[in-house]
Amino acid sequence: MSDLIRRDLAHLWHPCSQMKDYEDFPPVEVTGAAGSYLHLRNGSRLIDASSSWWCKSLGHGHARLRAALSRQADRFEHVISANTANETLVGLSERLAALCPPLDKVFYGGDGSTAVEIALKMALHAQRIRGQTQRVRFIALENGYHGESGLALAVSDLGLYREPYAEVLPEPVILRGLPYVASSADPLWNDCGPAWPALQAQLEVHARTAAALIVEPVLQGAGGMRVYSPDLLRRLRAWTRAHGVYLIADEILTGFWRTGEKLAWDHVRGGADAAPDLLCLSKGLTAGWLPFSATLVHPELYALFYADYGRGRDFLHSNTYSGNALGAAVAAEALSIYDEPGFGESVAALSARLAAAWTHAAEATGALENLRAVGAVVAADLRLPESLRGRRAGFEVFREAVARGALLRPLGDTLYWLPPLNTEEETVDELTRITIESIQAVRRRMGF
Ligand SMILES: Cc1ncc(COP(=O)(O)O)c(C=O)c1O
Repeated sequence: MSDLIRRDLAHLWHPCSQMKDYEDFPPVEVTGAAGSYLHLRNGSRLIDASSSWWCKSLGHGHARLRAALSRQADRFEHVISANTANETLVGLSERLAALCPPLDKVFYGGDGSTAVEIALKMALHAQRIRGQTQRVRFIALENGYHGESGLALAVSDLGLYREPYAEVLPEPVILRGLPYVASSADPLWNDCGPAWPALQAQLEVHARTAAALIVEPVLQGAGGMRVYSPDLLRRLRAWTRAHGVYLIADEILTGFWRTGEKLAWDHVRGGADAAPDLLCLSKGLTAGWLPFSATLVHPELYALFYADYGRGRDFLHSNTYSGNALGAAVAAEALSIYDEPGFGESVAALSARLAAAWTHAAEATGALENLRAVGAVVAADLRLPESLRGRRAGFEVFREAVARGALLRPLGDTLYWLPPLNTEEETVDELTRITIESIQAVRRRMGF
């Protein structure tokens, strides 16, 4: 163990980790990062197979984003965004206002959880302003994940993360029986009619008490990289509108081309009438350069809050770094890159490459099941006998992959690739080889 790692373990409490695991699987020592790779002190490199928790959508060290950050740092780095205005933030807001019409108001936060917290609070508060004070429940989807802060965790259906705090978190209504698909080729993708009656029946019970419904459109990340039919979103939008329930689209993972469309909500193809009421962005918004998030708001919801001060219509939410100028400058440049002609086509090419390589990995190992893919994400579950479930086979694959050159951080026994959107073909080949070898090594050792 190097001196740095000893010092690290003496003081750092790493996120989403059991610290005892680091005793025989210490953190890797990063000295640099470029493109899809992390560079390590021992001279080797690791493929960042999950884009550093899904945010490095344009890879590490992108020259244009570095230049945008540095230009802004030369002007000013941060000013309070209440009672001030600046070109960087106004310019970015104009562009975000065009992303998902008619959502044309933008409220900035720090990280993804904050964006969700803001959306949930706005929805609850708006219902109160409308006189719908009985509307105090949130509806969420099974296997959904929306962040770690109080309300965001409350509406997440992840027992492992939520359970220790369940006593103090508001209980959401969880919709079960989602129309999950393996890919857009599944007939359910365009028509989830067979699943709808059972879902509608669950919704109807809460038609008069629900404040908002929150969804990760099309792709659920932390709940297992599950893909579901965009037709469900169309139906949920119609149902929520008919019953005066707000709809929140959490695009913190899916925003900016990850699912093959600029926004995952674009799969819905219903135009402005089918837009959500609130939409949360982070991660890819700055391509993972800074903690920065935005909640886009429907003008009708915004109008409810527009009133004389002190009448219960003031949204007094504040985060110190709301509208941070460095984050805004990088986000504006990232949006320019996402908007370039051919960007969507390049994501489509990567997506096809990933899907083919994933199928090959499954065939070569015979150890993957429930293969699924959407945009530049592929996932599958390790095919394990009952006796090996809960024995951390996924974690073992992770360790093997790190030893071979890929930071392939599974979700339990679910393996997935979610690399930067500009990942090179050779890197996909390398990742495929490492994944196959890592699975085979664990398979031999654990016997499955
Ligand atoms: C869909 C979704 N919502 C919210 C969050 C929370 O974002 P953050 O970790 O930046 O607070 C995440 C993080 O992974 C996410 O995937």
